[in-house]
Amino acid sequence: MHNKGDKVIRTFENGKLAVEEEDGKWFPPNGPTAFCPNNQRPEETRCFENYSNTLLPVTLYIIWFVRHHNYICDKLKEVNPCWDDDRLFYTARDINNAMSNQIYFREWYETLIGRQNLIKAGVITKDNGFRDLYDENHDPEMTTEYNHAIRWFHLMQESTVKMYDKKGNYLHDYPLLNTTFKMGFIAKNMESFTKSTWSPCHDFDSTVSFDVANRGLPGVQEALDIPAGDLNKARHFGLRSYTDYVEHFEGSKITEWEELEQFVTKANIEKLAHIFEDVRDVDLMAGLWVSKSIKGGYIPELLADILIDQWYRSVKSDRHWYERDNRPHAFTKRQLEQIRKVSVSLLICTVGDGVDEVPKKGFLRVSKKNPLVPCSKIQKIDFRAWADDKCQAKSNKRNGWRNKKN
Ligand code: HEM
Repeated sequence: MHNKGDKVIRTFENGKLAVEEEDGKWFPPNGPTAFCPNNQRPEETRCFENYSNTLLPVTLYIIWFVRHHNYICDKLKEVNPCWDDDRLFYTARDINNAMSNQIYFREWYETLIGRQNLIKAGVITKDNGFRDLYDENHDPEMTTEYNHAIRWFHLMQESTVKMYDKKGNYLHDYPLLNTTFKMGFIAKNMESFTKSTWSPCHDFDSTVSFDVANRGLPGVQEALDIPAGDLNKARHFGLRSYTDYVEHFEGSKITEWEELEQFVTKANIEKLAHIFEDVRDVDLMAGLWVSKSIKGGYIPELLADILIDQWYRSVKSDRHWYERDNRPHAFTKRQLEQIRKVSVSLLICTVGDGVDEVPKKGFLRVSKKNPLVPCSKIQKIDFRAWADDKCQAKSNKRNGWRNKKN
């Protein structure tokens, strides 16, 4: 899709993004070129013009972050009434970006890979202060291995959504794939789908859920075997074999099946040996599908290696990385402290529909250890950290003038 830049999504008023109301809820606007083939018209009409219209989780995050941008604008305007549209827009965008990176690295990947593993790899720091890995000679680029390997997450994708009522009581199951390209239906059921995000994901057990393996793009393609594509893509890209990546990242040269035992269980080695003639022929994805999980995390160590390698490159090559203290328009120490407080639970409490309670740790199953807690118990951003002295001076002057007049 041609990137039309931020102009098409802005209102140019108070920094805000364009949104539309439907049944008292705010959504990115509809438009004539938006494509939602599974909407049942005339009831289901929501279809975003300038954002992607695809899978349920992607859709929810788009709606939440768009709403959150406008929420930040309101908060910034409260503390800085003198800020103009541009200042509000760019500052809100910067805070929203930082927030998504904070959630992604310091919450989601900490949960998946383990905090200590990420600190050891240099992807995150032990403390909450600034850090600067930026190297202007380092080009911002993606490894093909990264783009390929993240398809592994199809294995963690649960395709049955659990629906809950307002009080968090389980109602019934819903096939997740039935929401694809069907934004109108999602928009009409925002409360239920928001709460459905508390459902557990598919434990990594080397299997893939039925719908992900059989009906990847409902309404568009009769049948689609996503894992087959996942395996095949590495062959199209000409990627090296699983054992070559093990050697590259883990330093272990493997030429015999038994040597795989530190990475793959005996039972799974047997399965691989049944399919591949030589251990050095195992496809990268096939190896990742059956590898043991990293200590302290939930995904294979080699997958973590490939992800970490990319993130390190990304942070190093990003001049605007939110933790840099000398980037253009960098956060102050106090502002960064506020960003450190954010969580996916805070995002959902702030902009989610009908949400009074959230899991304490948003990426973990609800349990005795991780109960649902009222939103009032979730740490919040204090936007006074963005208070601009110039605005304060202006408003003091105004008040002074008024006082004199009175
Ligand atoms: C119900 C959930 C999901 C569905 C139905 C789905 C569906 C698909 C489909 C149909 C493709 C294209 C397959 C092909 O061309 O061979 C694809 C590619 C991909 N998916 Fe998923 N996916 C889901 C969840 C996820 C998740 C959770 C992740 C990662 C966190 C993910 C990452 C990717 C990546 C990286 C690609 C490759 C994109 C590219 O080649 O540019 N998907 N997915």
